[in-house]
Amino acid sequence: MLHRMPGAPLTVRRPTFDYPDDLRVAWNPRNREFAYAANSVSLLMPYAEPYFVSSVRAAIPDLDDALAARAADFVRQESQHHRAHRRFNDLVVAQVPALRRLERGMKRAYGWLSRTRSLRFNLAFAAASETIAFTLARWAEDHLSAFFRGADETAATMFLWHLAEEVEHKTVAFDVFEALGGSRLRYALAMTTSFLLATGFIVPSIVVMMAKDRRVLNPLAWFRLVRLAVSFVFELLPNMAASMLPSHHPSKFADPTWLTTWLQTFDPDTGTMPDWGLGELLAS
Ligand SMILES: [Fe+2]
Ligand SMILES: [Fe+2]
Repeated sequence: MLHRMPGAPLTVRRPTFDYPDDLRVAWNPRNREFAYAANSVSLLMPYAEPYFVSSVRAAIPDLDDALAARAADFVRQESQHHRAHRRFNDLVVAQVPALRRLERGMKRAYGWLSRTRSLRFNLAFAAASETIAFTLARWAEDHLSAFFRGADETAATMFLWHLAEEVEHKTVAFDVFEALGGSRLRYALAMTTSFLLATGFIVPSIVVMMAKDRRVLNPLAWFRLVRLAVSFVFELLPNMAASMLPSHHPSKFADPTWLTTWLQTFDPDTGTMPDWGLGELLAS
C-alpha cells in the first residue's frame, strides 16, 4: 500500500546510523553544494524539532483520543530525527568549529520562540514548518540521482529516512494546529517566520562550510548553490501559498512514491533500511 490513510497510526522506527569517523563535510563529492545545504538544514534540527515536539506535546491534553495518539507518535518520530542529526552534526562541527557560534544562535532563537510565543502560534509554526519539510522531501525525490548518487551511504540513508518520515506524518502537526483554532493568518505569519529564520541560519552555515573547503570564492560553487536554491523556492512557493488557503489540508499534497515505498523496507530487528534501490542510486 503506497498511500497512508490520514488517520492511520504512525510507525515509530529507531534506526541506527554508524557514520564513518572520517565523514567528509562534503559527503557527496559529486554534489558538494547539496551536502553543504543538507548539513545546514541538519544543524537546525536539534533546535527546531524539539520546538515542534514541545508545541505538539503541549496540545495533547486538548485533543481527542485518536488525534492525541497520532500526536504522541509524531513526537516519537521527531525525537528520533533530532537525535540522529545530533550525532551527525557533532561530526560536522568537529571539522568546522566555526559552526558552533551559529548553533548557539539557533538554540537561542528556537528556545525564545518556544518560551515566549503562544501555544497557538507555536502550533502554527510547527504546521508550517512541516509543510516546508514535506516540500523538501518531494523536491529531493524529484532530484534523487543528482543529490545522492555517489554520496556517503550512511549520511544519504539518514537524510532519506528523515525525509520519508516527514512525508509519512505530514498531516499530524496541521491537524493539531487546526484542532486548537487553525487561524490562517497566524499560519501565514508563522510560515514566513519559519522560512526566514531557517534561511537566516542556513545561508551563513553554507558559507562557513564552503570557507572550510576553500570554495567560498569559487564561482561555479556559487552558481550551483543559487541554482539549487532557485529550484527549491520554485517548489516551495506554490505549496506555501496553497497551504495558507482556508480549504487546505496536507493530505491534498501528492506523496512522493519512491520515499514512501522505500520507508516500508525498514527492518525493525536490525534498525536498518535495507538496500532497496538505494545501492544502485548511490553507486558510482
Ligand atoms: Fe523530522
Ligand atoms: Fe516532521
